[in-house]
Amino acid sequence: MHNKSSLQKKRLSYVPLVPEAVKALRKLKVVSKEKTEPPSDQAEIKKKFKKTYGQPIVAFEVGAETEKKTLKIGVVFSGGQAAGGHNVISGLFDAIKDFHEDGKLFGFLNGPIGIVENKYIEITKDKLYEYRNQGGFDLIGSGRTKIETEEQLKSSLDTATKLAIDGIVIIGGDDSNTNAAILAEYFLNHNCKTKVVGVPKTIDGDLRSSDIEMSFGFDTACKTYSELIGNICKDALSAKKYYHFIRLMGRSASHIALECAFKTQPNLTLIGEEIMHKNISLKEIVSMITELIIKRAEMGKNYGVILIPEGIIEFIGEVKTLIDELNVILASGSKHFDAINKSKDHMEVLAYLKQNLNIESFSCFEILPKDIQKQLLLDRDPHGNVQVSKIETEKLLLDMVKKELNERSFKGKFSAIAHFFGYEGRSALPTNFDANYCYNLGRLSALLINQGLTGYIACVKNLKESVEKWQYCGLPLTMLMNIEHRHGKQKPVIKKYLVDLKSHSFLEFSKLKNYWKFDDQYLLVGPIQFYGDKELTESCPFTL
Ligand code: FBP
Repeated sequence: MHNKSSLQKKRLSYVPLVPEAVKALRKLKVVSKEKTEPPSDQAEIKKKFKKTYGQPIVAFEVGAETEKKTLKIGVVFSGGQAAGGHNVISGLFDAIKDFHEDGKLFGFLNGPIGIVENKYIEITKDKLYEYRNQGGFDLIGSGRTKIETEEQLKSSLDTATKLAIDGIVIIGGDDSNTNAAILAEYFLNHNCKTKVVGVPKTIDGDLRSSDIEMSFGFDTACKTYSELIGNICKDALSAKKYYHFIRLMGRSASHIALECAFKTQPNLTLIGEEIMHKNISLKEIVSMITELIIKRAEMGKNYGVILIPEGIIEFIGEVKTLIDELNVILASGSKHFDAINKSKDHMEVLAYLKQNLNIESFSCFEILPKDIQKQLLLDRDPHGNVQVSKIETEKLLLDMVKKELNERSFKGKFSAIAHFFGYEGRSALPTNFDANYCYNLGRLSALLINQGLTGYIACVKNLKESVEKWQYCGLPLTMLMNIEHRHGKQKPVIKKYLVDLKSHSFLEFSKLKNYWKFDDQYLLVGPIQFYGDKELTESCPFTL
């Protein structure tokens, strides 16, 4: 056995909970619900997904037991780690064996590239044992390759045909599930029997809809960050000498920051979506933080904790315009991309951008610290997004606040420390919520494939309730799509779910945040609890 801590060993024997109603998989029969369509861009999406467009939502009910069926399924992790991934595989494996003891599970290695290059391992009972209820994606690894060119699609078709698999389960976020939809359509167009099913994974919490209540990994990530934030709050309150600027991972959406704010009650939490809605400029954000610091100093408090979502930069109007423009002009393969890459030094880059960006964007770019300018020009990820996790917004704000305090001749003390929490929360031991949720998502994926469904995403509903009340259903991926400008082109993609400013959680946060500014109401949440009092071990995310 690989090296394991005592807790890791103990977690191996945790048995994820499954609702009684869906325990006997061979007795579940599919019930088709209403036909679906995406909320917008229907005609264009229908044109791209002729075969899978408009499929119905499906649910399950208990019927007569069906014959045993040998399933062969391939599974892949796509994108960033999220706690619980190994439990999706465990649920999938156990379900395949429930359908027939001869069923097989293949794990594609290092992300979707494993499908393209037909690199896989067979996942056996013994191999899987060590990964049950453990964090990380290390059983088979993950990657960010996008299966989209004709060549990649064709190679994936070859892999599916060679392995003669009934289905591929893609465990991924919004972009990876868009890929799942493309692959499903492609396989149907080429008369391939392999079904493609997605599983909602991402710590970011942005793969959500009225039906998908939560992506897995969010709960564990937020609990991990909140433990650290709570500890920092207590330290700030004890030492009374530091401000902590904490950037939290989460890509564009501020779900993680919002969830951690409820859990720890820091002095200020910026929410990107609110900043965009109110059209708050970078200068105004800096002034807002500066004023908080001045007022707290007048109360004798030269310390505090500020949460900053990593995607905030994209929500600040003038910075967003700048990023959008950079995204278009720097799309790889463009002449601008080559010109910038060939520039001798930063001065030459600046001169080039001055000529090629509009005046407002260039003025915004010009006032940013040089390090941030460089970060904005880094290569995009394979999906064409700015690599927001590489932009050190916490340092940008800290520098700009320091400058403004000086300009306002602030006489108090200001000493600040910048932190970034991201990778710390992605591969942790999954909470009981994520362990149970993932195991059920895995079982459900096998069930969807067994029913011959393709172009679907596994969806477990009623997550706020006890596991016994959770329900299985399947959603057609096309119903989650819209058309977006990506990489200089109009593309059908799954719509990112951002913080809804009319939601109960956001309205509640808006009321409470004023109390947290000056009265220090920090909460010390402590580490994730796996055993003991149910109130501590079975809690689900607050913003659910
Ligand atoms: P996914 O969208 O693939 O789930 O990844 C989430 C995430 O952790 C983001 O929060 C973060 O911005 C990004 O991945 C970091 O990417 P990388 O792992 O490539 O550094």
